[in-house]
Amino acid sequence: VFQTKIPEGLRQLPGPKPLPIIGNVLEVGNKPYLSLTAMRKRYGNVFQIQIGMRPVVVLSGYETVRQALIKQGDDFAGRPDLHSFRYISDGKSLAFSTDEAGVWRARRKLAYSALRSFSTLEGTTPEYSCVLEEHICKEGEYLVKQLNTVMKVDGSFDPFRHIVVSVANVICGMCFGRRYDHNDQELLNLVNVSDEFNQVVGSGNPADFIPLLQFLPNPTMKKFVSINDRFNKFVQKIVSEHYSTFDKDNIRDITDALIDHCEDRKLDENSNVQVSDEKIVSIVNDLFGAGFDTVSTALSWSVMYLVAYPEIQERLYQELKVKVGLDCTPRLSDRPNLPFLEAFILEIFRHSSFLPFTIPHCTTKNTSLNGYFIPKDTCVFINQWQVNHDPELWKDPSSFNPDRFLSTDGNEVNRLEGEKVLAFGLGKRRCIGEVIARNEVFLFLAVIVQKMQFHAIPGEPLNMTPEYGLTMKHRRCHLRATMRARIEQ
Ligand code: HEM
Repeated sequence: VFQTKIPEGLRQLPGPKPLPIIGNVLEVGNKPYLSLTAMRKRYGNVFQIQIGMRPVVVLSGYETVRQALIKQGDDFAGRPDLHSFRYISDGKSLAFSTDEAGVWRARRKLAYSALRSFSTLEGTTPEYSCVLEEHICKEGEYLVKQLNTVMKVDGSFDPFRHIVVSVANVICGMCFGRRYDHNDQELLNLVNVSDEFNQVVGSGNPADFIPLLQFLPNPTMKKFVSINDRFNKFVQKIVSEHYSTFDKDNIRDITDALIDHCEDRKLDENSNVQVSDEKIVSIVNDLFGAGFDTVSTALSWSVMYLVAYPEIQERLYQELKVKVGLDCTPRLSDRPNLPFLEAFILEIFRHSSFLPFTIPHCTTKNTSLNGYFIPKDTCVFINQWQVNHDPELWKDPSSFNPDRFLSTDGNEVNRLEGEKVLAFGLGKRRCIGEVIARNEVFLFLAVIVQKMQFHAIPGEPLNMTPEYGLTMKHRRCHLRATMRARIEQ
């Protein structure tokens, strides 16, 4: 391996000795968030492992991560060229591709402004403060009815199976101007797939780093390619329908807005960054993809924690009963009045750390961190799980305790504590859906906890062990729910 000379005054990265060909794959194992957190104790906040032949720098510790992603943001803002990323959105993904800085920045800005304008639009009636609120309230109420019906018919339900459709409908509304029925096979086949996507994209997948493995039969990889294929075809079909019914004077949704942007740009050829039409319209793939899986995972974990901690579920219900009442559906404006729910959500993000690593980063030039030299084009993993479980940052980090985020009188959320939770990354690559995501998790939870009580099935112990991936899921399982009060059917 070619070694860049280390500049004077900088040190060489510490880390475990790699084996030939496989590097440190065995030590990293299949729970990298645990093994790399353990290695940090030995090697510190900046160390290097080797996956296959490829060096990877692992960052831990809140201050070190902030230093890299915020203060030295440009140095660490790239994405590595990983085998599996080339299949996502046909290699044209905003989040996963190796777009050069100018192109990525232009696309990110477009994506951000499309999301912002289509979530803050007025709702169809003045009852709602914005369309985002309208979509979530309606889908939340529909989810409650759906779960109630499934309970009557089957006596139990798989929480993820139903939550994912409701969440997908919110982002479908904004991206495509439509929603799907809970039994729509086309949507179900797409959003309810087993989890090969997340397994393959999770940080440290050996097949991404050891070229030989890319030529061996690999059933997981095969499924991954087919999931991406199906996903791209689904979006492509909707996009072509939009092209054929496009009307400049009636921009219906994010897809239309992106198409419109391509037209506008042709009139204005002054722009110094050239981004193809395809790379503009395919932004909708990223928004739709990132928009349903993450939020459904957060909500599905939330329901698991409600069941695991019935006394917390009861406190959440009481807070809603007192602050919102039981006769009206909660709204986004109730958020400041529901500090315990807010604290519960922060603790879900911290304790589950279901996005244990951000999407992998890559250095864009030779740089240094904490006195260590890091060459250009080095793949970098950000260990969010470690920060969220750091005993120097959190008292008793392994216990699930929403109160850690409340002021002593319990009436307020401690914002500074909340900001230490890493879930959305930091800096230049920070999630652009964060505001929407936090609003969705809040409002869906408020709606379902106000109306339903969740239980485990007697004799079936809850399995809270996460399955490793980009987003970590709990095992699929069945739960029960009872209505808090009758609802009109
Ligand atoms: C990127 C977390 C929801 C759109 C990311 C990253 C994380 C993250 C950790 C990578 C940051 C990095 O590489 O350093 C989450 C969580 C969510 C969520 C925990 C829900 C609870 C959403 C939603 C959308 C979205 C709802 C869109 C509607 C994106 C996009 C990127 C991204 C486009 C790529 C940004 C880039 O590479 O520049 N998100 N996200 N996310 N997220 Fe989210």
